[in-house]
Amino acid sequence: MKIAIGSDHGGFVLKEIVKGYLIDKGYDIEDLGCDSNESVDYPDFALKVAEKVSSGAFEKGILMCGTGIGISISANKVKGIRAALCHDHLTASLAARHNNANILCMGGRTTGPETAKDIVEAWLNTSFEGGRHSRRLAKIAEMECKK
Ligand code: RB5
Repeated sequence: MKIAIGSDHGGFVLKEIVKGYLIDKGYDIEDLGCDSNESVDYPDFALKVAEKVSSGAFEKGILMCGTGIGISISANKVKGIRAALCHDHLTASLAARHNNANILCMGGRTTGPETAKDIVEAWLNTSFEGGRHSRRLAKIAEMECKK
């Protein structure tokens, strides 16, 4: 599976940890930055990753900023993106099962490395349930077509 990953400076350290973890697991990861702790603007990296997922070039994306809030708000502005900010195993598995989230967001200043790995595993290894949840996602997609 091809996964695009990105962060701002607040998520940089966690991004490097999550990236290494997933590469070791055999995932095909493309890192779209940032590349250091130097201050940058999170919408720039949200857009890079979200566009890769929205275009279909990548099946999933992972984004991190300090809290995960700004980068998830930004990613959700891109058509077709369902970015979910997750804090634990339960929110991550439900983001996959109910929301079919195609981008996972986490906070580098709020979530520790071991919890982050657990979140990523839960999100990647849980399938979308479909059914009534598909109807709800279709309504979200309709909202994207309105002005
Ligand atoms: C950057 O200092 C910080 O605001 C950002 O990483 C993120 O937490 C925003 O939501």
